[in-house]
Amino acid sequence: MSQLPDALKVGVDSIDQRHEEFWGLFEALKNASDSDFSAAFDAVILHTQRHFAEEEADMEHLVYANKAEHKQEHQKALDEMNYFREKVSSKKLIFAKAYVKDRLGDWFRTHLLNMDSDLARMIILSR
Ligand SMILES: [Fe+2]
Ligand SMILES: [Fe+2]
Repeated sequence: MSQLPDALKVGVDSIDQRHEEFWGLFEALKNASDSDFSAAFDAVILHTQRHFAEEEADMEHLVYANKAEHKQEHQKALDEMNYFREKVSSKKLIFAKAYVKDRLGDWFRTHLLNMDSDLARMIILSR
């Protein structure tokens, strides 16, 4: 299982561990066979729900100007994951696979380098 690239580490252990976990599950999903795909997708969604909830709990302890925007991005991403998870159930696997291959990884990288890095900075500053 591949490791989270160093360039994606933000220097707050709890956040980096969560991202490491996402990365592993995302890699497993990308490499899943058709028959394993829905279980692997469920694992990513289940992880992501907890991942976002934990980040959002961290935000509550900070004076954090981008809280609403960050939470909105989380909600949008989860809605999108659930939308494509539905496609798996309705046998439209090709759409779900394209989403995972072409969009999910880019979303994660962009969100991490913008929103999550910003949150990490606020956590470090508040110490
Ligand atoms: Fe995150
Ligand atoms: Fe986030």
